[in-house]
Amino acid sequence: MSFIRDPRVTVFPDEQTAARVVAVRLANALQDKPDLVFGLATGRTPIALYDELARVTISRNLDWSAATTFNLDEFVGLGPEDPGSYRRFMQEHLFRHTNLRPERINFLVGNADPDAECDRYERTIAAAGGIDIQILGIGTNGHIGFNEPAPGLEARTHRVTLTIETRRSNAALFGGRLEQVPAEALSMGMATILQARTLILLAHGERKAQCVAALVNGPLTTELPASFLQLHGDVDLILDTAAASSLTL
Ligand code: F6R
Repeated sequence: MSFIRDPRVTVFPDEQTAARVVAVRLANALQDKPDLVFGLATGRTPIALYDELARVTISRNLDWSAATTFNLDEFVGLGPEDPGSYRRFMQEHLFRHTNLRPERINFLVGNADPDAECDRYERTIAAAGGIDIQILGIGTNGHIGFNEPAPGLEARTHRVTLTIETRRSNAALFGGRLEQVPAEALSMGMATILQARTLILLAHGERKAQCVAALVNGPLTTELPASFLQLHGDVDLILDTAAASSLTL
């Protein structure tokens, strides 16, 4: 089911079908523009998408060698080789299945000096010509990247304190031990994210239904950072029926 509105909402019967359709779209985009700049997300949501992308990479013999990637966020204190780092997550789920050149994989380095690292990241995104397609998930509290609900939002890449809810959702990366989940992260800011030319947000499951509905139907508010996606002219929300269940369309 597809609805012409802004953001565009497409509802799939299940997560797997949604992942397949988005993977084909990304593969087509890469074939049309081999030097595409991807913005990528971590978390449970994009795992099926990355599995499908790995499959389509093999079946079409996709060439990623001219492509560039930027991930949204990383935990403060964790180096790229740390097993709990998002850099390792991406290696495992996507990068190792592609011929992406290591120097074209861009990541916030969690154990670098935070302020200098955030500046470096903004400059690197600008030098790459900006992000063509940004993949997003959404937190159950409406966060995007690690832009958590707050009275004000940071526009640019910055250091954030994670909410307990966000740390809990990431505990699986740390063997289920909440106390091991870093308390802080570095994250692209909302302006950085909104400057990507195309945004594709994936959400599945009942737990995401309320924040997806607030993103689409609610007012713009820093207490639901995802609501700012309404300001972007090219956003696709890719949902399963459960995540779409509270929407008024
Ligand atoms: C991670 C990120 C986060 C997640 C969100 C949803 O890079 O950007 O905003 O997308 O926390 O996480 P999952 O997919 O685990 O529900």
